Amino acid sequence: MATLNVPPTLSDLSEKNPFRFLPRNTRRVYDVLAEVYPLSTMLFHSDAHKVALSLAGVTDGMKVLEVATGSGEMFRRLLRRNPNGLTCGIDISPNMAARTQRVARRLLPDAVAHCQAVDARNMPFKDGAFDAVVCCYLLELLGEADILQTMSEMRRVLRPNGKLALVLIGQQLPAFNTWYKFIGSLAPAFLGRQVESSIPEVMDSYDFRLEHDQQVRQGCYPSRVVVARR
Ligand SMILES: C[S@@+](CC[C@H](N)C(=O)[O-])C[C@H]1O[C@@H](n2cnc3c(N)ncnc32)[C@H](O)[C@@H]1O
Repeated sequence: MATLNVPPTLSDLSEKNPFRFLPRNTRRVYDVLAEVYPLSTMLFHSDAHKVALSLAGVTDGMKVLEVATGSGEMFRRLLRRNPNGLTCGIDISPNMAARTQRVARRLLPDAVAHCQAVDARNMPFKDGAFDAVVCCYLLELLGEADILQTMSEMRRVLRPNGKLALVLIGQQLPAFNTWYKFIGSLAPAFLGRQVESSIPEVMDSYDFRLEHDQQVRQGCYPSRVVVARR
């Protein structure tokens, strides 16, 4: 593996309250929400998922990983694009991972899908195992050190020249940012906080080469899709 540059100091991601970004709190919350979460995905995330799929370079026969599948809406898009390849998914919430696996098996029984409850900070995959890695709306839920660790893991499991597609909550709408900061403070384990503007610099520090950077708006909900090559 290539030597990495020293990551930047993510001072704008720092959060003084150590309780906010504990993975076990996030896991509990998302475990409880697994059956109703598809509604949230449909209302806020589906347009950005489509853009990410179109830019991620996934073709049939690839080995693809989705990190933080949630209830599996993007995972099924990836499976439909890659019916003869291998599509793996992970989520820290056992209920989310189980739902993703169950629905994928039911709707796409012939595709090869493996979704398991795994923490993105330590993934049980070999170096360079995947042609593409996709990760939507996870980094907002991680503390500063965990963002760096997860980025390092995503880079490790991606083959050289493979593509990483990230979807982040956009920060281009000031009114939305104010609102998100408020509701995020009420439910930090569920909503986290916006980190989008810092992420390209982090990717750069891990030697990713940026290929696409697109803003998407679904109603009043902004997203940013960033695709880079290892
Ligand atoms: C905001 S949801 C996004 C779900 C889905 N990717 C989407 O686009 O709708 C975040 C997901 O990340 C998962 N998650 C949070 N921390 C994680 C971690 N450390 N490792 C893996 N998954 C994690 C949560 O359980 C949840 O399902």
